[in-house]
Amino acid sequence: MSTAGPLPGSHGRRNFLSRFVVAVQAAIGGAVSCVVGGAALAPSFASHTQSWQRAAALADLADGVPTPVTLRLIRQDGYRQVVDRRVVYIQRDEALGVRVLDSTCTHLGCRTRYDDASKHFVCPCHGGVYDMDGSVLDGPPPAPLRRLEARIDGTDVVVQV
Ligand code: FES
Repeated sequence: MSTAGPLPGSHGRRNFLSRFVVAVQAAIGGAVSCVVGGAALAPSFASHTQSWQRAAALADLADGVPTPVTLRLIRQDGYRQVVDRRVVYIQRDEALGVRVLDSTCTHLGCRTRYDDASKHFVCPCHGGVYDMDGSVLDGPPPAPLRRLEARIDGTDVVVQV
């Protein structure tokens, strides 16, 4: 007569397998937590180094006419510093004070130019047209030209970059 029951050693193997599965699940859960947590916290560790930069002397700006000015932006890219150049348009008049618009088209990033005859900013790539305050008048741009914070500091215009 034989009795049905676990074979010798099978109980230990079953315990080992269930512990192994729990350990693998814990490892996967930990890895997912690191990825999700890292993605959530990364922006708070990124450097947001905004600073004010002298852009132009007030005396060099024609009244009411956007003047192109090239800003030098220094940023850290890994272990090296990179200098980016960005062209902005500075407008100054009595009523407005000072307004600074990024010349970068919001469609695909071409550089707009100011057309004095029409008093519009025109993008040469796909025909985007913006008015003097940067609002889209025509073409594919999805958003107005980006406006930068600016103020008059003594005899200069300073821009937040
Ligand atoms: S990049 Fe300016 S309209 Fe397309």
